[in-house]
Amino acid sequence: MSMMRSVLLAMSENRWMRERGPRLWFVRRAARAFMPGEEFADMLRAAGELRPLGIDTVFTRLGENVTDESEASSVARHYVDVLDAIGSAGIHCEPSIKLTQLGLDLDKEQGYAHLRALAERAHATGNYLWIDMEQTSCVDVTLELTKRLKAEFPRVGVCLQAYLYRTMDDLKALVDQGIGVRLVKGAYKEPPTLAYPKKADVDENFFNLAAAMLEGLGRKNGFRPVFGTHDVHLITRIRAHAERAGLAARDVEVHMLYGIQRGEQLRLVKDGAIVRVLVAYGSFWFPWYMRRLAERPANVWFVVKSMFAG
Ligand code: FDA
Repeated sequence: MSMMRSVLLAMSENRWMRERGPRLWFVRRAARAFMPGEEFADMLRAAGELRPLGIDTVFTRLGENVTDESEASSVARHYVDVLDAIGSAGIHCEPSIKLTQLGLDLDKEQGYAHLRALAERAHATGNYLWIDMEQTSCVDVTLELTKRLKAEFPRVGVCLQAYLYRTMDDLKALVDQGIGVRLVKGAYKEPPTLAYPKKADVDENFFNLAAAMLEGLGRKNGFRPVFGTHDVHLITRIRAHAERAGLAARDVEVHMLYGIQRGEQLRLVKDGAIVRVLVAYGSFWFPWYMRRLAERPANVWFVVKSMFAG
């Protein structure tokens, strides 16, 4: 891991930085490249702009590791309200949530109660609920709660991280149960005992996992494979693999983040793939933004430039 990446990931976890970083005007300005605004209405506006391009949306209100149950409850209420609003407006926006934002660190069962309330509302409004994956300390409990949820609600998916050695085993269990999987490379700082330290190994594992996911599609048990990456080379490899396996272009669903690889998103739509863009909003964006910088440290240059821009 590069020194810059390590520093940025350490900043994302630092409480002092989490409080003060968002107050820096030039950081706020630079962060706008990755989020259309802090309000739900900003997300809806972005979703409205993407729809005519053939791109649907996944949305997330940024936040993680909440330390107060009242905050977790208010997050859950927010999602329930916006799910209703989306359902009645007939917009194609799927929620993606972090369990530590629903209070997982405070009380697992209370966190699950919030999660269940969201799943219930997502189900009632014909939506699909995605669960993000956080640090390795959260992986077991996230998978456990996702499986519990799936026993009651059919349209549930979870993120898996290709940088973890364990992921192929986790994937098999999810495919068996028809739980959707959004495969990503992984955004946190993890030790080499748990995660591949080399990017080339992560990329190769991503491809092998993707191939297994495409096989899982044949089970017809509701399993939904999604590839959450901006890596054009990897997407091309996965699409070629799908084609060789006799799958249709629409069987490859790619999710990307708002503000990254728009040209590639449009090219994929033109080629018949399904594309969704994850649009984030909310005021607690600092750690999330630091992880975006860590993914591509050249982005730090945009922060520097925004200091001098008029
Ligand atoms: P890689 O990092 O190899 O990037 C490939 C290319 O994409 C780069 O060369 C660059 O051109 C472009 N690119 C990538 N990141 C960029 C950035 N920040 N700014 C500008 N360009 C960039 N992680 C996690 O641990 N848990 C989760 O729940 C999620 N959820 C999630 C949802 C979705 C929809 C996406 C797309 C990603 C996540 N992630 C995540 C983040 C993921 O783990 C990973 O850190 C990023 O997607 C970056 O990795 P890539 O696959 O894009 O490849």
